[in-house]
Formats: sequence, structure tokens, C-alpha cells
Amino acid sequence: MSMVLDCPSSSASAHPWAIALQQPAVEFGPVSLPLLAGQVPPGLRGTLYRNGPGRLQRGGQAVGHWFDGDGAILAVQFSAEAIATYRYVQTAGYQAEERAGRLLYGNYGMTAPGPIWNQWRRAIKNSANTSVLPLGDRLLALWEGAQPHALHLQTLDTLGLDDLGGLPAEAGYSAHPKVDRLHHEVINLGLSIGPRTTLHLYRSRLTAQGSDRPGTLIQQQTHALDGVPLLHDFVVAGPYIVLCIPPVRLSVLPVVVGVKSFSDALTWQPQLGTEIWICDRQDLTCLHRLTVDPWFQWHCNNGHVDDDGQIVLSLIRYGDFQTNQHLKEIATGTPKTAVCGQLWQIRLDPQAGRFVDAEPLVSQSCEFPTVAPDRVGLPQRHTYLSIHPPDSPQPSGLFEAIACFDHHTGRLQSSAPVPGCYPSEPIYGADSADPTQGWLITVVLNTLAQRSEVWIFDAERVDGEPVARLELPQMVPPSFHGAWQAA
Ligand SMILES: [Fe+2]
Repeated sequence: MSMVLDCPSSSASAHPWAIALQQPAVEFGPVSLPLLAGQVPPGLRGTLYRNGPGRLQRGGQAVGHWFDGDGAILAVQFSAEAIATYRYVQTAGYQAEERAGRLLYGNYGMTAPGPIWNQWRRAIKNSANTSVLPLGDRLLALWEGAQPHALHLQTLDTLGLDDLGGLPAEAGYSAHPKVDRLHHEVINLGLSIGPRTTLHLYRSRLTAQGSDRPGTLIQQQTHALDGVPLLHDFVVAGPYIVLCIPPVRLSVLPVVVGVKSFSDALTWQPQLGTEIWICDRQDLTCLHRLTVDPWFQWHCNNGHVDDDGQIVLSLIRYGDFQTNQHLKEIATGTPKTAVCGQLWQIRLDPQAGRFVDAEPLVSQSCEFPTVAPDRVGLPQRHTYLSIHPPDSPQPSGLFEAIACFDHHTGRLQSSAPVPGCYPSEPIYGADSADPTQGWLITVVLNTLAQRSEVWIFDAERVDGEPVARLELPQMVPPSFHGAWQAA
């Protein structure tokens, strides 16, 4: 498979958005948001939740990687008015470091500060900083190395760790659960790293049933793994679960001894190829394993089974693992490593367990693919993305635009970049009055105004002006992932 290159070169200059990472974010709200322009669609009723690292330093010391910051949740509730709340997740590690006034723990991209025995006597901090999963009675803050934290849906008060009625204590729960609203289920995976590294697949109820709370596990399956891979996301495609396991492996010993962080102990091993697992969604067993040319992906988009019985999925594909270095450098505000993820489509034959083909759909550098929530596991017309414009002046920085790729026409529609403004991953919210109408919500860091804003686009007209812009009271640091909960 040849890569189609439409990727810019690197840039080592300071980025305007660095100001949002230099100081710990400050909690706010609940606060009503002033309208800067346009009008909030009356049919947009529900809450946008977003999660990301709110602070990347403590006591004068910086964390090692963008992934190491303490999770902070933004909630923007749309009803008669728009009301925003921003709160740190009160993890045990956050509270202990708050009391100590300094960093205490190791994390994905850093070993624990101080003498080496700190590596052995202190657990890795669960940063709760990657994504969110709204359930009917609580919000989960997700961090894939350990169990989620539960928060109050409105106040964002932290309620504590949540094992969904049976998560193994040693296992993680990925930041990319797939919510299937048609079957009222949540599918997810997790890894447990140890003498025998294990992949866990989970199936949960989405809604309460009897005494079971929303999210309660109804099935688990474990699979032994060869080595310790990095697996952040996956695909549900009709009756299948598809895992694409990139050839990145962890050297466990340096981590156990305490001389390397997880990030520094991960190596790109292209000779292994990317391993694809096709699993049965119902019983969570593995039906086929196949190995294809190497690529790396953080994020899968969506999958479905087409009329020919083939699995069609898409993901953001990189040619190597340099993206990890790039994301580490983001935390410094001056990333030097340029990377280029592209939206690719992969087709598989689930009967024969065969790779069919792969092709790039979007050659511009892009990330954070999302679809409308009701399309998970089903064919989708549109994929929404964060994207660098072809002529981006800062191609190794945060994305300057959002985009919509039309899978029927192959057309890519992008928002107009606004100088100094950096939109987050676009999240789709359906209109409560008109199910054919959707809105894209993105939280924009406006570095010129030194604040963040909420922009709402008509999902069919991403290349038009936002239909509304709302002012948040201050800067919210760039976040990773979000979710929409309809009212
Ligand atoms: Fe992610």
C-alpha cells in the first residue's frame, strides 16, 4: 500500500496556542455563556462534554508528555441558555499532588520524580484525562490505563472510581468505547500488563435494567497477547469488532525497573506488521487474525458491513510512530516533529478472514475522526475531522480547522481557518426537533482574545460561517475527546 503524501514539513517556531498550556487551567462555572455571534439553534438540546489535560506542570516541574496532564472536564449544557462548567477530576493522584504542591507520580510519559524507589512504591497516576462517556446517571472520565472515574452529570463533582459492576482491578478501560444506540450497548477493550499481558473485551448495557445501572458489564472475554502493544481504539462493524494492532511494543523491563516511562519504552517494530483481529461482537471471541503492512493509528473512525458482506472501516493512518514524539513535544509548546495522519479506508472479508484492500480517503493531515452517534457500527455518509489546511503556516501544531468528508461523493469540506484560533475535535449533536438536521460543536482556543469559545456549525455546511459563537470565561487548554448527550 503506497502512501499518498500531501503532508507539510516541520516547523520549530513557537506556537500561539502554547499560552494555553503554560499555566494550569482554572475551574469555572456553572456560568451562562454570552453569545458572540449568530444564534444557538433552538433544537440543539443536550450537553457537550469534553476531557483533556488541564495542567501540565506543578511546583515548577513539567510533566513528560501531553498525555500526563490532569484531566479536566468541560460541560456545556444547551437549554434555554448555554451554561458551562469546568472541573478537574478529583483523582487520588491529583489530590495527593495538590496537597504536596509537587508532582509525585509516574505516568505515560514520565517516571516518578525523585529517587528511583519512587517508581516502585508509587502507582502510576490515573490521570482521567482522555475522554468521557455519559451514562444515564453519571459521567465517566476515561483513562485507558485504569478504571474510569464517575462524575456527577451536572456539577462534575467526582464520585470515585467506577468498575462498571465487574471490571478486573488490574485491567484498563479504553478511552474509546463504542456506544451502540440501536442495541443499547457499549463495547470496549482494555489491557492488563503483567507476566501475561491480556486483552479484555467488554460488553455493557447502555441503559439501566432492573438493578443494573447504565454501563453494567454483561459480558467479558480475555485474549492472551504476544508482547505488549499500544492499542488505543478499535472499530465496531455490524456484528464484528475489529482491532488493528500496530507494530509498537513495550519493553517491559525498563518500565518495571523504573528507568524508562511507558512512552520511552515503546518502540516501532515495522517488521511485525499491523495485526488485524476480527472478533465476534456477541461472544467477544476472535474469529480471524491476519497480518498486513505496518501502520500506526491512534484513532479508528467507524465500520460497517457492506452489501457484499465485507467489513469497511476507516481510521487515521500514520506511516510510523513519530506521532508519539510529536504529541510529547506539544506539551512544550514548540513541537519540532512533523507528522501526518491521513484518513484511510480498509476493507476486510470476514468470512475468509482476508485483507481486501486499503485506500486513502483524505490525504491532508487530519485526526480525531467522529461520526453521528447513531451511525456507530453502521454505514455513515459523513466523517467529521480536525484538519490542517493545505497551506497551514504551523503544520506541526494544533489543527486550524474542522472538516467533513462525504463518503458518497468523496468531497472534503473544511471550515475557514481563523488566525489564532484552534478548534477541537468536532462533535455531532442531532437537532431535537429535526432528526435530519445535525450540528457540529467545537471548542475553539482563541489565542488573540486569550479565551476559549464554543462554535456551532451546521453539519452540512462546515465550510460556512459558524451558526453561533459563544464565549467561555477563560482559556480551556486543548482537549482530547468529547461526547454529546442529548437532553
Ligand atoms: Fe484518543
